[in-house]
Amino acid sequence: MMPFHYRHQELYCEEVALSHIVERCGTPLYVYSLTGILENYRCIDGAFAGQPHRICYALKANANPELLRRLASLGAGADVVSGGELRQALQVGFPAEKIVFAGVGKTDEEIRLALQHRILALNVESREELHVIASIAERMQVQAPIAVRINPDIDIEGHPYLTTGKSANKFGISLAEARDAYLWAAACKSLRLVGVHCHIGSMIKKAEPYRRMAETLAAFVADMKDQGIALEHIDLGGGIGVDYSQVLAEHGSPFYIDPVELAQELQPVLQATGCELIFEPGRSLVGPNGVLLTTVLYTKQTAGKKFIVVDAGMNDLIRPSLYGAHHEILPLQQKTAVVETADVVGPICESGDFLAKERLLPIMKRGDRLAVMTAGAYGYVLSSQYNLRPRAAEVMVQDDGWQVVRERESL
Ligand code: LLP
Repeated sequence: MMPFHYRHQELYCEEVALSHIVERCGTPLYVYSLTGILENYRCIDGAFAGQPHRICYALKANANPELLRRLASLGAGADVVSGGELRQALQVGFPAEKIVFAGVGKTDEEIRLALQHRILALNVESREELHVIASIAERMQVQAPIAVRINPDIDIEGHPYLTTGKSANKFGISLAEARDAYLWAAACKSLRLVGVHCHIGSMIKKAEPYRRMAETLAAFVADMKDQGIALEHIDLGGGIGVDYSQVLAEHGSPFYIDPVELAQELQPVLQATGCELIFEPGRSLVGPNGVLLTTVLYTKQTAGKKFIVVDAGMNDLIRPSLYGAHHEILPLQQKTAVVETADVVGPICESGDFLAKERLLPIMKRGDRLAVMTAGAYGYVLSSQYNLRPRAAEVMVQDDGWQVVRERESL
């Protein structure tokens, strides 16, 4: 489902005109479609129905507590990457036995927290971390559930910052090293080897890297079985890419990879292992189901350029500045066909503060509203108070109802 559409020249989220929400809440404002998010969850979950699996939503994409509560109540698990995310996941109702915890730099305190709560698995990223977990677990007199993150040296051919499964990246350990690590861990009483983990990157556009990753992990599981180590799950991480240029309802699927086709491709590989599949989608659930709304403050024409200065900046949405990411920009009220090319920039004191460059847009004037599309993932969570700007508010829409799910920060 694509929840955003025009009706009578007005941009809607589900059954609510966005201008109606903006009149009450102001801008900058994040608005999410709950129906869209839950539908994407069901779509991915349903695609893998033919095999034992667990969807652990990656909190890092969007950790709004209300959104998390709704996903938890559908039966989702959680993928966390810090003590903060772990606490948040537990607080909103994700059962500990459905939480996996990755990250190259877990502190002792974070490890203790995970062990205290008996989460599903610590996704371990180095030999040294494995040793530290073993000694903390021993002191706590518990068994730590372990899945080592393998770095399979698979290229997703994406943005270098979003690539995590190449050997040059800081994540995971090589297959050969993992083999030694498992053999060592199997003899360690304070560790329990429950699975194997991999996450090769974000914004993956083809099924092929997933297939290669699944084959690599399936072979590893078989090798471990031969060594007398029975693993229970294979965790393929997250990463399904979404199409940032397809933003309106009439365009169909938001995913680059069809989850049903992906499941069909992976099923034979995974079935042979007898393992449960864990999947950690973030962006694909929330990305297309959120927008950042902003108001035009000023327009200005310089010698070579037209600028539209808006009240949302890189502190609200850093993706264009950080990754050169493309987000479509649509007016809340559709205008006549006259268009011009302009940069949409924020109020921050940096030339890198832009939401869009050289974009063909209707002619804008002070007070007009714009929607920055596909901003539901890695939007609010990456926002900051840079230039001492209060963070935006967040609103959740479902059908014809809506509610503020996080108040705007105040000065
Ligand atoms: N699992 C692990 C271990 C991860 O590191 C990530 C994302 C995910 C799951 C979820 O991946 P997704 O399904 O969302 O692609 N800030 C960047 C994205 C960074 C992704 C980091 N890890 C952006 O705005 O594009």
